[in-house]
Amino acid sequence: MLTVLNHPLITHKLTIMRNEATSTKDFRQNLDEIAGLMAYEVTRDLPIKRVKVKTPICETEQNQISKDVVLVPILRAGLGMVNGILNLIPTAKVGHVGLYRDEETLEPHEYFGKYPKNLADAVVMVVDPMLATGGSAEAAINMVKARGAKQIKLVCLVGVPEGVKRIEAAHPDVDIYLAALDEKLNDIGYIVPGLGDAGDRIFGTK
Ligand code: PRP
Ligand code: URA
Repeated sequence: MLTVLNHPLITHKLTIMRNEATSTKDFRQNLDEIAGLMAYEVTRDLPIKRVKVKTPICETEQNQISKDVVLVPILRAGLGMVNGILNLIPTAKVGHVGLYRDEETLEPHEYFGKYPKNLADAVVMVVDPMLATGGSAEAAINMVKARGAKQIKLVCLVGVPEGVKRIEAAHPDVDIYLAALDEKLNDIGYIVPGLGDAGDRIFGTK
């Protein structure tokens, strides 16, 4: 299932990020803030359990989240979304998937993988700002599934129909969340209109 979060606060901040004149500092800050806003929506269906609590007034039964949450950023750019989500879910654990896209073939190459132990029982959020061909997200989801993950959400900032279709075909069980669904990929695999190279803009490497 695809959910596009067309919220004015999110689209306003995303417009700042799209602007090529935006500094590294402001790009990073807006990404952090959008990730937090997205987390609010992405966690809407987290499972809950009833627990007893004693207020200063009486004993009562109320709701608590019943599953662990694991964030899995795709290195590098996914790192830019981690803190914003952790601000809302401070108990979440964080795994890391290292993938880079070959600039010629656009195929993802794995260079790192480190995960917490509880993937099988957790709600696993794979995070990456860009869903372009979908190759990186597909590979990252394969990696967490191989470690036992069953309930997986893919949380990206900007996607295109090509990437969404690829994930829906490869992983129909995964819920996809985007802040924006853009038009298309250009002939070198960049999202149009997009925001350029997310990793380079977050880390100031170009
Ligand atoms: C970017 C982006 C995604 C990937 C998306 O990463 O952060 O991981 O490309 O493209 P795809 O959907 O076509 O796979 P990149 O490989 O440039 O690495 P980086 O994060 O280290 O810059
Ligand atoms: N990766 C990026 O960082 N940007 C794009 O537009 C596509 C892939």
